[in-house]
Amino acid sequence: MKNLVVLTGAGMSAESGISTFRDAGGLWERYPVEQVATPEGYAANPKLVINFYNERRKQLLSVQPNKGHLLLAELENQFKVTVITQNVDNLHERAGSRNVIHLHGELTKVTSSLQPNNPKFIRELRPENYEVHWGDKADDGSQLRPFIVWFGEPVPMIEKAIEYTESADIFVIIGTSLNVYPAAGLLNYVRPGVPVYLIDPKEVKVTSGHKINVIRKGASEGMEELKNVLQKEFV
Ligand code: OAD
Repeated sequence: MKNLVVLTGAGMSAESGISTFRDAGGLWERYPVEQVATPEGYAANPKLVINFYNERRKQLLSVQPNKGHLLLAELENQFKVTVITQNVDNLHERAGSRNVIHLHGELTKVTSSLQPNNPKFIRELRPENYEVHWGDKADDGSQLRPFIVWFGEPVPMIEKAIEYTESADIFVIIGTSLNVYPAAGLLNYVRPGVPVYLIDPKEVKVTSGHKINVIRKGASEGMEELKNVLQKEFV
């Protein structure tokens, strides 16, 4: 089976009702990114940050994977699929994708404020306990914090993502403005000659030597088209 590697961003979940970050009315317009997505913001007002992610987690309970997520999961019947996502929601997993790398963390997990990337302290929350309170402690005694990679923090999963990207026979980008590194740089690890597809309803500026096959559609419609193309060309 061919290795199909897919990089997804907020646009993947837009049709599920989760807003993107940089589109008009996006999350960063309503909540200053410095306040809710940086270590400095967390240090300045941890309660506000904990609460912001409690709200995001609560939203997970009311949204469903969209057709784009489902079609992507179905491709596992014909390809060895790896999803590299910048999204912190769990919609790829809930749609049935089995190999998902979360570059920016996961809403459903919490960790230590002192050693956020130490696996000993990362804990999965059950939906009935999605709310984290000020005073809840990780196993090292520090305040429990969201397992989210904030701006300025290391991105440990990038190594694994690069390895998969280098092994891709087909590379697909869905719903990301490619503004945030290192995720946006993954395309540089795609081997020369590997077909690259990009699904996004808007123009995305891509700087790379690869020829990009653009599908100018939303995630669901775009995935339908991609599925047809892949079946015709590679199965
Ligand atoms: P952005 O909000 O920057 O970009 C969203 C992209 O999705 C844009 O290119 C939109 O055109 C596209 N889009 C909108 N609706 C769509 C739809 N229905 N179908 C497909 N695409 C659609 O989000 P990201 O690129 O994911 O990081 O942002 C990257 C990172 O920046 C996020 O992971 C987050 C953010 O700050 C952290 O929080 C660390």
